[in-house]
Amino acid sequence: MNFIPYGKQFLDQEDIDAVVNVLESNYLTTGPNIQLFEDALSQYCNVKYTIAVANGTAALHLASLVLLNVGDKVLTTPNSFLATSNAILYAGAKPIFIDIAKDGNIDLDLCEEALKKDPTIKALYGVAFSGHMLDQEKLKYLRETYNINILEDCAHAIGAQDKGVKAASCTNSDVSILSFHPVKHMTTGEGGAITTNSKELYEKMLTLRGHGMVKTPDMKPWEYEMRELGFNYRITDIQCALGLSQLKKLDSFIERRIKIVKAYDKAFKDSIINPLYTYDGKSSYHLYVVQVDFSKLTISKEDLFIKLKEESIGIQLHYIPINKQPYYKNLGYGDEHTPVMDKYYNECFSLPMYPRLSDEEQQYIIKTLFEVLNG
Ligand SMILES: Cc1ncc(COP(=O)(O)O)c(C=O)c1O
Repeated sequence: MNFIPYGKQFLDQEDIDAVVNVLESNYLTTGPNIQLFEDALSQYCNVKYTIAVANGTAALHLASLVLLNVGDKVLTTPNSFLATSNAILYAGAKPIFIDIAKDGNIDLDLCEEALKKDPTIKALYGVAFSGHMLDQEKLKYLRETYNINILEDCAHAIGAQDKGVKAASCTNSDVSILSFHPVKHMTTGEGGAITTNSKELYEKMLTLRGHGMVKTPDMKPWEYEMRELGFNYRITDIQCALGLSQLKKLDSFIERRIKIVKAYDKAFKDSIINPLYTYDGKSSYHLYVVQVDFSKLTISKEDLFIKLKEESIGIQLHYIPINKQPYYKNLGYGDEHTPVMDKYYNECFSLPMYPRLSDEEQQYIIKTLFEVLNG
């Protein structure tokens, strides 16, 4: 059996042709495909404005610069990739780590408790973890009741929808971000996007993407003005052509993922392997996370990773709690009361899941996982 990674891109000849077409054109950086990709994403996510950027981390950075002020306190989750809370630090603001709920998302009830206790909290950064939408009614309630800015990190969640609300539609948030890293639902190599329904935020982030530089029709032909300290977070036309081609296939990718989810759900029903959440229609299923009580088994989590690798199966742990990272510990984090996250970290891991995972490979993973866990 060839090695089976936990995640992998899906690229076909149409994607390759789209990239080659741009390579043979006049534009490699800012060309026509950027706006086309942004418009297609706006339409797909059902949101007014999209800005495509160099990667998801750049999207988080720009969003944080317009949503936060230096010193702002921001509620966020320990269960994410580092970039989510790093972006809060980039803006000079202060992350406050809140425990997660059973579905791996930030616990919005605990967020409310924190907001009640401390009315100076300015924002909430949630992650639609593994593609599972944040509870939209609760987000709406928190946003209206506590007057906070909300960012939805939808790096895992493009294509998800819950009760008609699409991921990254910013229906109950100020800004959302997406990532197009190859392990995500669709890829542009590196790449990301910011979505918002606010014209004001859109214009600010657009300027910050390109060095804080502005060029208006009344200026002389050579003129431009730098009005803010911005960045070069542009994405290339090559990447956007690939993104457009991938976006056309996104729904079929998700359909295939759902089939894989259902087969895993069936295999693990009433067993020692507990899926974090089973098929429920609220997710675009970026990850298939399972929970195992290692204290009842003879094998440790570390040995499980090693043994499965020997059997050509790559599993992964999403995520090490961010607040326990050395950099965060040096800032005084790490001792928050997060019992659900702690248990999650001890017991959870992600199984391979991507559109090209074959039925045979999946059956091999299931069989091998049971064998290795049962010693
Ligand atoms: C939840 C989450 N947010 C943000 C990012 C950052 O995205 P990128 O790798 O495109 O910078 C990632 C990427 O792994 C992620 O998983």
